[in-house]
Amino acid sequence: MLTAREFQSQLVYNYRMTTTQHTPGVEGSALRARITLQTLRQKKKRGEPIAMLTAYDFPTAKILAAAGVDVLLVGDSVATTVLGADSTVVATLDFLITLTGAVRRGAPEAFVMADMPFATYPDAATAVANAARFVREAGADAVKFEMDVRHVVMVQALAAAGIVTCAHVGLLPQRALQEGGYVAQGRTPAEARRLIDSAVALARAGAHMLLIEAVPDDVTAEIVRSVDCPVLGCGAGASADGHVVVIHDMLGYSERVPRFVERFGDVPAVIHSAAQAYVEAVRSRAYPAAQHQYRMKADPAS
Ligand code: KIV
Repeated sequence: MLTAREFQSQLVYNYRMTTTQHTPGVEGSALRARITLQTLRQKKKRGEPIAMLTAYDFPTAKILAAAGVDVLLVGDSVATTVLGADSTVVATLDFLITLTGAVRRGAPEAFVMADMPFATYPDAATAVANAARFVREAGADAVKFEMDVRHVVMVQALAAAGIVTCAHVGLLPQRALQEGGYVAQGRTPAEARRLIDSAVALARAGAHMLLIEAVPDDVTAEIVRSVDCPVLGCGAGASADGHVVVIHDMLGYSERVPRFVERFGDVPAVIHSAAQAYVEAVRSRAYPAAQHQYRMKADPAS
């Protein structure tokens, strides 16, 4: 006998399964169980690393989920990777809500985390109202905020409102203008102490997850030891419970990548060669061929 909560969750799951569209060449994702906060907590408990990548669109989300990626982050890094901006501050709330909806539709079974854009959480009430839009309008499972110890009250408000919150600490790209660039954090004993204390305070205030960016592994290890929630690392060493990188960096799109990024593919080369083949086919008139063309219908009057 299912509890009311389990029944509702099953209904949502079934609905998502029946509304999933087909992506040619991508099989198997519909067979995966839905990943929830509980799943991620269990993975941490079992010492099973969590695999997380950024995703910004429907077809990529579908491919990543089928490949086994647990968490898809609709990051404000879309501003730099997709829009070509110099900074993540260009991403707006409405834009990220639209993209989060696309990723949710592409990966109904994945854990979808949305990123709060620059200056959309100046106080607790505004943070709750704006974060709720990701959950209500786009089906996000969690919302990530760039935070420090000053955000403890905000985390309490988000937790009280029922929003699954990920506190992003360490290097905070939205503060690059203030900090004078992208600088690794927690590298001196004093800085490390401040960072660890902030992370622990945010977790104790009710953050459901932490994401630590660009810090030494020793700092990460101490945070992981000090909190119960899953700790995701982005250039934060091997001790984190899970790891995330920007998908464009690991697929070979970015000319310059942070030192912690490993390239796992060369997608630009694949697109380049397909585009070259297309150009050649058009110029040589090999495309479109007979099978690509519509034929006239017989005149019904004749
Ligand atoms: O926006 C983003 O992609 C991020 C990752 C770098 C963690 O916040």
